[in-house]
Amino acid sequence: MTAFGRSPATNVRWQSFDLDKRRRAAAMGQTPAVIWFTGLSGAGKSTIANLVEKRLFERCRRTYLLDGDNLRHGLNRDLGFFDADRVENIRRVAEAARLFVDAGLIVLASFISPFRSDRRMARELFDDGEFIDVFVDTPLTIAEQRDPKGLYKRARAGLIKDFTGIDSPYEAPQNPEIRLSAGTGEPEALAHQVIAYLDRSGYLERRS
Ligand code: ADX
Repeated sequence: MTAFGRSPATNVRWQSFDLDKRRRAAAMGQTPAVIWFTGLSGAGKSTIANLVEKRLFERCRRTYLLDGDNLRHGLNRDLGFFDADRVENIRRVAEAARLFVDAGLIVLASFISPFRSDRRMARELFDDGEFIDVFVDTPLTIAEQRDPKGLYKRARAGLIKDFTGIDSPYEAPQNPEIRLSAGTGEPEALAHQVIAYLDRSGYLERRS
């Protein structure tokens, strides 16, 4: 039985198709990848991901942005914030990101994704070099001062349970590809750091 009380499908075989990721990406002249932003609520993940996507778009790259708050209005609307729900949340969005990468896109994923094991699971879905972990490193004190949605205040008052950093853990990445000191830096400069990494590492070279 799955966690959702249903039996997993059996008698299902993988179906192969003639077009593959390489050809789809070549048609767009780009290197598909997922740029995975992790960090506390209020760390600046979505703000920075938004700016990075705009910079990529200006350079004619084909992108898609997956965001925690937004996906919880649709695909993940049945999930809450218990550990098991977060695990399922990240499993689904990692699978969704894999489909978009298979379509040849550069995907920006913005999720707290607090557990190391889930981020590892997400990385393992991708080919070598396709998963770029960006730690949006904002100290809790600063995220809490910003409190853009008023959620820390509500969590401290006991009105929200299992809030990351308050009564639910955040396991910081140990070896992210990129670490952004997002407690102090300006969003534009932080986004530039991500673009500079992509440039330096050859992700933005034109492919055919
Ligand atoms: S994750 O932990 O499962 O990766 P996700 O990124 O999808 O979380 O969603 C986090 C967003 O949900 C936060 O930015 C915040 O706006 C909102 N939220 C509501 N309740 C909580 C909670 N208990 N803990 C963290 N975020 C919460």
